[in-house]
Amino acid sequence: MTTLLIVNGTVIGSAGPYAADVLVEGEKIAALFAPGRGPADVETIDATGKYVIPGAVDAHTHMELPFGGTFASDTFDTGTRAAAFGGTTTIVDFAVQRTGEVVQDGLAAWHGKAEGNCHVDYAFHMILGGVDDDSLKAMDQLVADEGITSFKLFMAYPGVFYSDDGQILRAMQRARDNGAVIMMHAENGIAIDVLVQQALARGETDPIHHGITRPQALEAEATSRAIRLAEVARDCPLYIVHLSASQALEEVAAARDAGRNVFAETCPQYLYLTLEDQLGAPGFEGAKWVCSTPLRSKHEPHRADLWKGLRSNDLAVVSTDHCPFCFKDQKELGRGDFSKIPNGIGGVEHRVDLVYQGVVDKQLSLARWVETIATTPARMFGLYPRKGVIAPGSDADIVLYDPAGTTRIGVDTHHMNMDHSAWEGYEIAGRVHTVLSRGTVVVDGDGNYHGRKGHGQYLRRGLSDYLL
Ligand code: URP
Ligand code: ZN
Ligand code: ZN
Ligand code: ZN
Repeated sequence: MTTLLIVNGTVIGSAGPYAADVLVEGEKIAALFAPGRGPADVETIDATGKYVIPGAVDAHTHMELPFGGTFASDTFDTGTRAAAFGGTTTIVDFAVQRTGEVVQDGLAAWHGKAEGNCHVDYAFHMILGGVDDDSLKAMDQLVADEGITSFKLFMAYPGVFYSDDGQILRAMQRARDNGAVIMMHAENGIAIDVLVQQALARGETDPIHHGITRPQALEAEATSRAIRLAEVARDCPLYIVHLSASQALEEVAAARDAGRNVFAETCPQYLYLTLEDQLGAPGFEGAKWVCSTPLRSKHEPHRADLWKGLRSNDLAVVSTDHCPFCFKDQKELGRGDFSKIPNGIGGVEHRVDLVYQGVVDKQLSLARWVETIATTPARMFGLYPRKGVIAPGSDADIVLYDPAGTTRIGVDTHHMNMDHSAWEGYEIAGRVHTVLSRGTVVVDGDGNYHGRKGHGQYLRRGLSDYLL
C-alpha cells in the first residue's frame, strides 16, 4: 500500500483556503495535519505554492455518444485520459435508452463501452428516450440496484430523444417517489423545428443559423415549463442541464427564491464563447461551435449573468457537456445544412482551468471554484463524500493546482481526440500540476502521464444529498 504526504500546500475547502498536509494511504485520504505535523518517515509530494483541491467531478460528458449519424469522437479511453490531464478524476456520463429500447439494455451497452477502458472513475446518468410503463418501472430498478439516481429527459430533438409533457410529468412523479433527480434538456424542440425548417427554406444554411433558430425565449419557455411540471409532481428535484441564457436563469432563480428543489448547471462554452464570434465564424468554420443549447449573443448580458449565477448558487455546477466531433468528416456532415451538423463541443480537459479564470477575474472565490467543479456535482449526484472533498475517508482524488503556471489551449497540446479546439490559442493563468486518482499519481508536475486504461472504476451512486 502506498503512503504519501502532500506537504506545504493550501487546501481549498468549502469554507475557503487553509494550510494543511494531506496524508494518503492506499486509495484513501487518511488524515489532514497542521503543516509539519504529519508522519516524518513517508514519501512526500511538495505542494509549496500550490492549491490542493479535490479531483474535479464532471457531471455531464458524452463519450462515444451516437448523434447525427456519427459518434462523439472521444472513447471512454481517450476521453477519461484527457479528463485526468485536466484535473477531472470523476466523470458522470450518460447511458442512453433509445426510443423503443429496453432501459436496462441501453445501460448494459454503455457499461460495455466503458468497462475496462476508463482512466478515471466513472458513473452514469440514464437518458430516457421513451417514457412508458416499462421505463418507469426500470427507473426504480436503476435507483435501487444499479447506482443510477438521475435521469435525463429532452424537451428538444423531436423524433430522437424528445419526451412530451405527459411523459415528462410521469417520469417526474416516479422520480419524486424513488428519490431520483430529473435532469432536463430545456429547449422547446417542437417550436425550434419550425424555425429550422423556415430558415432552411429561405436558404439560410450556415452554422450561425443553428443559434438563431434556437432563441433564448425557447430555452426560457422550456425551463419554465419544466419547473412547473416538477411543481405539479410534488416538487420533484429538477436539474436544468447546459443552461446558457439569461432568461432561463431568471426562471431558475425565481424557483429557487421560492424554495424549490430546482438546480442548474452551465458549461465553460457559455461563459466565454458567443454566437457572433464563434458560431458566426466565416464560411463553415462556425460548425466547430454547434451545440445545444447554443452559444448566445455577445450583445446581451448572458455571460455576465451566468458568472453572477455561479456566485449566487442559482447555478450550482459547471459541467462540460463534453461531446466532441472532429471537424473533418463529422462536423462536415452539415455543410450546406446546419441542422445536420452533429451537436457538441469537446472540453472535458479544460473545465478546471477555464473556471479558475473566474478566480483570476474576481468573479468567484477559491471556495466557489472548487464547489462548482467538484464538491457540488459530487453532492448533487450522490458521490459525496467519497468524491468532491479533501477529507479523511474520501478517495485520494487530489489535484495540485499551480496558480503561478499558465495553460495554453490548442489542438497541439490537448489530449482529447479532436482535430480542433473550441478554445484554440487561449493562454490562461493557472495550471493543473499533479493529479492523483485513488491514491495513484496519474499526472506528475512535469506533465508526464502515469495512469492507465482500466484504472477507472464504475461508481454506484447514492441519492442526492443536495436537496432541500
Ligand atoms: O450539443 C450538445 N449539447 N450535445 C450533446 C447532447 C446534449 O444535448 O447534451
Ligand atoms: Zn442536452
Ligand atoms: Zn436567488
Ligand atoms: Zn449533454
